[in-house]
Amino acid sequence: MTETSAETWETLRSLANEAMTKAYAPYSKFPVGVAALVDDGRFVTGANVENASYGLGLCAECSLVSNLIMTGGGKLVAFACVDGDGNTLMPCGRCRQLLYEHSAPGMLLDTLSGIKTIDEVLPDAFGPRTLQTYQDAH
Ligand code: THU
Repeated sequence: MTETSAETWETLRSLANEAMTKAYAPYSKFPVGVAALVDDGRFVTGANVENASYGLGLCAECSLVSNLIMTGGGKLVAFACVDGDGNTLMPCGRCRQLLYEHSAPGMLLDTLSGIKTIDEVLPDAFGPRTLQTYQDAH
């Protein structure tokens, strides 16, 4: 697993801010940018992409996960999310689930109350292992 230093968090926040400037958020006017470190050392980013059919809007994390898969996959090691002012933003509940699917064990997130693990922000998560365990037993 790649080390997560103070410099890594600085890079993640900076990349998230850069991604935020690319958001398409004409309806909420609430741009969001995200960035993550992948277990092979690369960085992936994303921004929210809204739609005139409001419910179809994509969170920034959807964009990040698409970029992760399209650039070679891997597991997310560390993640940062910012709002339009560059302030740390907590990923919404659905997006915690999206991130969990692609998380490295012990994945870290920049949160309003400090650095936390994915298990702390999504305790007792439903995920790929839940399905595997069930399938193995049947
Ligand atoms: N949003 C994200 O992109 N990620 C989150 O984790 C929280 C919410 C976006 C969705 C919508 O485009 C805007 O923020 C306002 O809800």
